[in-house]
Amino acid sequence: MKKVIVFISGRGSNLLSLIKNAKYYQISHIISNKALAPGLQYGKEFNIAISTFDRKDFNSLKEQKKALYSFAGQLNPDYIALAGFMSIVPEDFVREWYGKIINIHPSLLPKYPGLDTHQRVLDAKERRHGCTVHFLDTGIDTGPVIAQSTCEVLPEDTEETLSAKVLKLEHKLYPWALNNISSENIKLYQHKVLLEPQTAKERAGLQS
Ligand code: GRF
Repeated sequence: MKKVIVFISGRGSNLLSLIKNAKYYQISHIISNKALAPGLQYGKEFNIAISTFDRKDFNSLKEQKKALYSFAGQLNPDYIALAGFMSIVPEDFVREWYGKIINIHPSLLPKYPGLDTHQRVLDAKERRHGCTVHFLDTGIDTGPVIAQSTCEVLPEDTEETLSAKVLKLEHKLYPWALNNISSENIKLYQHKVLLEPQTAKERAGLQS
């Protein structure tokens, strides 16, 4: 069983899905950079330790980040899952933990890194959209892709309907990826994501 800590900033619906669908990992700790993140309720509900590092409790952003990342490092997890964590992870931490930090992003990377992905997809009149789970590197949403799920963009879609559709995919994709990483069916080798044959088949099914 792999030990995972989850970083959140807000609602925490991906956190909830990671908790509910854990098979080969256990979430041992939830860390938030917002004291009032609604997702923290799931820590209480499922009896998982929570720690918050809110900007207002520190003299500077630098101090806040230093406290958060040194605490996370001391927990010595097998993996760190970012789930709606709205802050850039410092480069030195990413380098130290490369291959151990996983992120979910609401677009089909490398398309639409950054914010407001659903509206940008609508503006560009894309026919397909989706989400990506990837290993974190020092760029913005640029690390090695682990898996993607896709959906159709319909003419009647709005930012709301599209984000709801993608969120549903996220809730399935993220635990699937984390379980397969934890059971070592998915590995990172020299910046390349390698999959066991059965896992590769499953991944192809998620993509279509
Ligand atoms: C998700 O769409 C995630 O991909 C993005 O932020 C959103 C977080 O939602 N990074 P939640 O907090 O998991 O409900």
